[in-house]
Amino acid sequence: MGQTGSVHRCTPTTRRSVLAAVLRPDAAGIRTAVRILQRGGVVGMPTETVYGLAADALDPLAVARIFRLKGRPADNPLIVHLGAAAQLSRVVATSTPLADSLAARFWPGPLTMVLDVAEGVPEVTTGGLRTVAVRVPDHPVAAELLAAFGGPLAAPSANRSGRPSPTTAEHVAADLGDDLEVVLDGGPCPVGVESTVVDVRGTEPVILREGSISREDLRAASGRRGQGDTGTVPVDPSASPGTRYRHYTPSCAVEIAAPPTAADRAAALAATGLSVGLVATSGAPEGVHAIARFEDASDLGRQLYAALRDAELAGIDTLVVESVPEVGVGRAVMDRLRRAAG
Ligand code: TXA
Ligand code: MG
Repeated sequence: MGQTGSVHRCTPTTRRSVLAAVLRPDAAGIRTAVRILQRGGVVGMPTETVYGLAADALDPLAVARIFRLKGRPADNPLIVHLGAAAQLSRVVATSTPLADSLAARFWPGPLTMVLDVAEGVPEVTTGGLRTVAVRVPDHPVAAELLAAFGGPLAAPSANRSGRPSPTTAEHVAADLGDDLEVVLDGGPCPVGVESTVVDVRGTEPVILREGSISREDLRAASGRRGQGDTGTVPVDPSASPGTRYRHYTPSCAVEIAAPPTAADRAAALAATGLSVGLVATSGAPEGVHAIARFEDASDLGRQLYAALRDAELAGIDTLVVESVPEVGVGRAVMDRLRRAAG
C-alpha cells in the first residue's frame, strides 16, 4: 500500500476539484481529518470492512454533504459509527437485551445493529426512518479518528453510488478524489465485505443485509441450537432500504462459474476473441488474464471489490469469478458477486 510519503495527490482531472489528499494516519493526519469533520466536512475513513465516507452524524449539513458526494438517494440511510458501545445512548432511544449481548460479543466489529433512534439524530442521517443503524468499527485508524473527534460519525461506503465498495484509499480517491479533501490511508481493508446489518429491536436478530458476520455466527451467539443447522435467524432484506438499489456494478461483464468449470469457461470465452479475466482458486489458462487468485470464501471477500476494479482497469470484457459455497461468510460474498453480475 502507498503509505510512503506524507501526502500524495490524485491525478488532476478537468473538473473543478478539491483533489483528495491521501493522508498517512499519523497524529498529523488524524488532526487534519478531525479539523475537517469539525467544520462540517467529509473525510475518507478506513474500516475493517470497506472504506467509509465519514461526517458528523449529528450535523445535518455535514451529512447532506455525504449524500451529495456519493450521489446517494436521500431515502437510503447511513450507518452511524461509534468509538465504543458505551456511546450507544447518544444515538439510540432504547437498547434491547439482544443488542447489548450482541454488542458485547461482536463489537468492535462488522455487525451493524438497527435500533430506535434517539432524539437529536437528524432525519437526513436515518433517511427519515425512526430507527438508526449503528456499529463500532474494528480498525485502529477508525478507532483513533472516532476517539479524537469524540462523537458519532455517519459513514456509508466511500464509493460513488453504483460502484464497488472501496477497499483501499486509492479506490476512494479514484471514485471521489475530485470532491473529497482527504482520505486517511489505513491500507487494504482486512475483511473486504460490508458489515452485517441486523434489526435487534426484538428478541432475535433479523438480518437485513448479509455481511461478514454470518447467520451461523449470530445463531451461535444467541445460543440457539437445534431446529436443524441453519435458518433460525430470519432474513428480511426488504426492511433495508439500501438493498433496493442496484449496487456494485463494474463496467465489465461478470460471470459466475462453479469451481470445476471456471478456468475452462474463461478459456472458451477468450477463444471467441473477448478479453477475459479470471478470479479463481486456480491459475489462469493461456490467453486469460489472471486478475486474482483466492484460497477460500473469506479470501475472495477480501479481494473481490479490488478485483472488479482491476478488471475494469485492465480493459477486461468479461470477468469469470469462481463461486464459493454459501455457508458462513460465503453467503455475503455470493450476494455481492451476484449483484456485480447483475
Ligand atoms: O461495513 C459497512 O457497513 C460499511 C462501513 C463503512 O462501515 N458501511 C456501509 O454503509 O456499507 P452503506 O451505506 O454502504 O450501507 C448501509 C446499509 C444500507 O443498505 C442501508 O440501507 C442500511 O445499511 N441501513 C442504514 N440504516 C438503516 C436503518 N435504520 N434500517 C435499515 N437499514 C438501514
Ligand atoms: Mg454501500
